[in-house]
Amino acid sequence: MNFQKAKFITSAAELEGCPNPHFPEVCFAGRSNVGKSSLINTLANHNGLARTSNRPGKTQIINYYLFDDKLYLVDLPGFGYAKVSKEERERWGRDIRDYLLQRSTIRLVLHLVDIRHEPSDLDEQFFYWLASNRLPFIVVLAKGDKISHNKRQQSKARVERILDEMNIEVPIVISSAEKNIGIGDLKELIRE
Ligand code: GTP
Ligand code: MG
Repeated sequence: MNFQKAKFITSAAELEGCPNPHFPEVCFAGRSNVGKSSLINTLANHNGLARTSNRPGKTQIINYYLFDDKLYLVDLPGFGYAKVSKEERERWGRDIRDYLLQRSTIRLVLHLVDIRHEPSDLDEQFFYWLASNRLPFIVVLAKGDKISHNKRQQSKARVERILDEMNIEVPIVISSAEKNIGIGDLKELIRE
């Protein structure tokens, strides 16, 4: 795995439309606008690959990118998008959880949290849910370039405490899609 080659494969609005699970998968989850699509672009070193936007709710379907002809990076729709109805938000949460449970080829979930903000209740519920369902995951503190080095470490310590209290032991990676922070570490974790 050297992240040399990346191409868009397909989009799916629901589980039925997903491509056959021919390849292992790494899924990108987290709130709308946290930077999931941008991170996929940075990993691919190809800025136009996944569509990004400063308008939250850009990615509302599941997008598949095939890396090095052997691994899917899967861009999941962001959760918690405020502009849709509560029912719609809940349905998305359910759909994403169903997806993660039913897709047997998932090897890793990257759960992104904006490094500037405390994890929301939804984030914490998701940590707990992932751990309870034994889905391998890591926490990515995204947009690391937006704050100072000290603030980054504080933010990481805060998330460490939250995970500790839940007895969850997973890697926490500070990243920036814009300034290439933590990208080497993420590639290493994905390779593993
Ligand atoms: P949805 O598709 O709505 O779920 O959003 P997303 O999580 O895919 O976010 P996206 O990658 O579209 O990024 C949202 C906004 O944040 C865009 O304006 C990006 O340019 C910006 N952004 C993403 N990553 C970074 C980062 O590392 N640093 C900075 N400064 N901005 C970032
Ligand atoms: Mg997106």
